[in-house]
Amino acid sequence: MADKHEFDSEADQVQQLVKKSHEMKKMSYCPYSNFPVGAALLTADGTVFTGCNVENASYGLAICAERTAIVKAVSEGHRKFKAIAIASDLKEIAIVPCGACRQVLVEFGVDWDVIMTKPDMTYEVMKTKELLPLCFGPTYLQRVKAV
Ligand code: THU
Repeated sequence: MADKHEFDSEADQVQQLVKKSHEMKKMSYCPYSNFPVGAALLTADGTVFTGCNVENASYGLAICAERTAIVKAVSEGHRKFKAIAIASDLKEIAIVPCGACRQVLVEFGVDWDVIMTKPDMTYEVMKTKELLPLCFGPTYLQRVKAV
């Protein structure tokens, strides 16, 4: 019974995260791409940080929704994450994080969940390490060097 209760609350938590990621699309500043993205990041202590993409007239300066959420969380003292939900308006496929965001996600662990959603609230879950195999991460900087 305890297990079932835990399972239910975890499922509820994921639903909430998915819903919040879609709500965050309305905050998106994307006049150039017209491609709103929302994110909701769940920390180890249960706090949720949200994010949206923020574009710029100098196109290359666009910041993705995932990185907005990560930067908000880290700047508030959170570095351990359980999951991030990502949302876009794409109808037929779940939104996936871009390469730069995958790298930023693995910086904070290779074994946490990326919840890739569709507007109908269905989703696919993959671990950060599955989305960026053979990733360069913080441990590389500690390895033995030849010089
Ligand atoms: N974008 C995100 O915010 N997250 C992703 O996972 C994919 C792309 C944004 C960046 C840009 O503002 C717009 O979507 C189109 O590339």
